[in-house]
Amino acid sequence: MERELFEAARKAMQHAHAPYSEFRVGAALRTVSGKIFAGCNVENASYPEGWCAETSAIAAMVTALPKAERRIKEVAVFAERRASVTPCGGCRQRLAEFGTPQTLIHLCDEDGPVSVLTLGELLPQAFGMKGVG
Ligand code: THU
Repeated sequence: MERELFEAARKAMQHAHAPYSEFRVGAALRTVSGKIFAGCNVENASYPEGWCAETSAIAAMVTALPKAERRIKEVAVFAERRASVTPCGGCRQRLAEFGTPQTLIHLCDEDGPVSVLTLGELLPQAFGMKGVG
């Protein structure tokens, strides 16, 4: 993974709005076309109603790119105080919407990536609408 993706996740983490969990997370994704989008977790007083850094990054990509370009090649996730934070179940499904089982998920600590998993490993037998209806 290039340093640029990790730095984007780290920078996004610094923008997190997480006064309830006090657990700031940043995520950055790179599309197949090479563009980077980053996001942070955003909480609110109705605590479970917040959303994750990965979701913010996906929303930034969808907002900026036409449909055909919304394809995720790799993702970096970085959280303060804890290495190797894996995306939650809901975010795995959201990533699967724009990725493939081969999409790489880099888990980071403060120095950079420490391990890498594929989306297929994180979400085996994912639900999909292809072939339905
Ligand atoms: N969180 C993320 O943003 N991404 C993850 O991969 C795991 C969890 C956030 C959600 C919530 O704001 C805080 O971390 C504590 O769960």
